[in-house]
Amino acid sequence: MIRIRDLSFSYSGSDSRALSSVSLSVPDGDFLGIVGPSGAGKSTLTYAINGVIPHHYRGDFYGTVEVDGMDTVETAPQKLALRVGSVFADVEAQLLASIVEDELLFGLENFGVPEDEIEHRIEGALAAAGISGLRRRATNGLSGGQKQKVAIAAILALEPAIIVMDEPTGELDPKSSRNIFELMRELNQKRGVTVIIVEQKSAMLCEFARRLAVMDEGRIVMAGPVRDVLRETEILESAGVEIPKIAMLAGGLRERGLYGGEVPLNLSGAASMMRDALGLKPIRDQ
Ligand SMILES: Nc1ncnc2c1ncn2[C@@H]1O[C@H](COP(=O)(O)OP(=O)(O)OP(=O)(O)O)[C@@H](O)[C@H]1O
Ligand SMILES: [Mg+2]
Repeated sequence: MIRIRDLSFSYSGSDSRALSSVSLSVPDGDFLGIVGPSGAGKSTLTYAINGVIPHHYRGDFYGTVEVDGMDTVETAPQKLALRVGSVFADVEAQLLASIVEDELLFGLENFGVPEDEIEHRIEGALAAAGISGLRRRATNGLSGGQKQKVAIAAILALEPAIIVMDEPTGELDPKSSRNIFELMRELNQKRGVTVIIVEQKSAMLCEFARRLAVMDEGRIVMAGPVRDVLRETEILESAGVEIPKIAMLAGGLRERGLYGGEVPLNLSGAASMMRDALGLKPIRDQ
């Protein structure tokens, strides 16, 4: 459980607030998406959860952040990292080893994972991230997307209860992006891992997340189940959040009195919405 209470933060040397009175609870097993325009404070909010603020970036910190009962200000970042696995937006800076398997190994050794478990963890994490074939490759010879997957595998190897990802698909093509989301869904549903993802590609995020938090100017302007948030098109627009096309279509049909169902989140949902709106029966019934 993550509990953020009335958190405000300004980076040292800056007189504006990167976060302003943010309160948010993330229950165990949640899949939370965070959206918002550039500069809204999304990355800073992830730093609050993994302890990067105030331990790495210093500044004025007000309020409290608790992760599984640990106050992040009072808890050593190393201890927090056992609970919270983070994939940062700048993946290049996150990779330390020159060979892919060493990247995973360093983490496992660092956190004192027993020797006889290490091989199994490395194999499993590489396979889960879909990069078993890159195991002995040099990290600096990989593409941006491959590096992203190495960073993800290194986190998975540590089996954290919470995974926080800041724009994990930034360097990935649509298929690889979907693979990452599917992997997160599987970890979330099968192993109960709490997943928090900051993502600009809102359509894909909405398809996978259970809840959505919308940020603007350091504040959370709205948070709730994905479908409830997507109905608030005015708030999303004023926050400068890209509204998924399917949700726009649902809103337009609702305004015209042509559709009264819930906002569809994927293509098959959109197809049944269109059938409803056009008064058509499903093809197989005709
Ligand atoms: N290291 C830093 N030092 C000083 N100010 C910072 C630092 N990092 C971020 N900020 C400022 O804090 C505010 C929030 O930035 P943050 O990076 O959290 O936004 P974001 O929503 O992640 O944006 P983006 O979508 O561009 O990644 C911005 O005004 C930014 O300029
Ligand atoms: Mg950011």
